[in-house]
Amino acid sequence: MKVLLVNTSPKEKGSTYHVLEFIAQKLSENGVESEIFWTGQSVLGGCRGCMGCRKTGKCIIDDDAVNTLAQKANEADGFIFASPVHYAAASGNLTAALDRVFYSAAKNFAFKPGAAVAVARRAGCSATLDQIHKYFSINSMPIVPSTYWNMIHSSKPGDYVNDPEGMQTMTNLANNMAWMIRCIEAAKEQGIEHPVAIKEVRTDFNS
Ligand SMILES: Cc1cc2nc3c(=O)[nH]c(=O)nc-3n(C[C@H](O)[C@H](O)[C@H](O)COP(=O)(O)O)c2cc1C
Repeated sequence: MKVLLVNTSPKEKGSTYHVLEFIAQKLSENGVESEIFWTGQSVLGGCRGCMGCRKTGKCIIDDDAVNTLAQKANEADGFIFASPVHYAAASGNLTAALDRVFYSAAKNFAFKPGAAVAVARRAGCSATLDQIHKYFSINSMPIVPSTYWNMIHSSKPGDYVNDPEGMQTMTNLANNMAWMIRCIEAAKEQGIEHPVAIKEVRTDFNS
């Protein structure tokens, strides 16, 4: 069982990375493996809407982290997408990467639990979490909860230790993620598979 921890900060080892390291430790205490994956300093733009991925199964922009993220997603059992808050929203890197990876490789994420984590100096966390949750809820992904919204305050790497409630929230999030992926694994062993999504209708209101 493996959880992919996606760091969408432009900084490889900034505040977001340190929070993910803390979550990795908590997952490990639950016997769950994890990997921190950095989307890089710059994700090379958002989705172009070219539909190239419909033919090849991967994003046409092939020289940033997005197609690697799609491959890693295929092997993972759960996901935590973490973003620094930028102007009360997710980072530009997160928006660009997730628009493209969910458009090109949604099946690699579907029916696997997902969680969002917002890291901020002060404000804008709940808007950031709402944004990230939308990728999950359009793609049959159970959303992993905690005991507060998954936000933690840190303006410099490692500062999160001054937010004990944030740390508590991250600990409960890791415990809940471990519990949910175990439950799904146990269900599979009992022959309970996820349902097949019905996708017969697509209503465009202007045609
Ligand atoms: C462009 C930019 C915009 C930011 N906007 C906000 C904001 O709206 N609210 C906030 O609390 N912090 C804001 N911050 C601060 C970061 O969220 C905070 O420093 C965070 O720890 C950075 O994480 P990182 O080191 O992983 O990139 C902003 C930082 C940058 C660079």
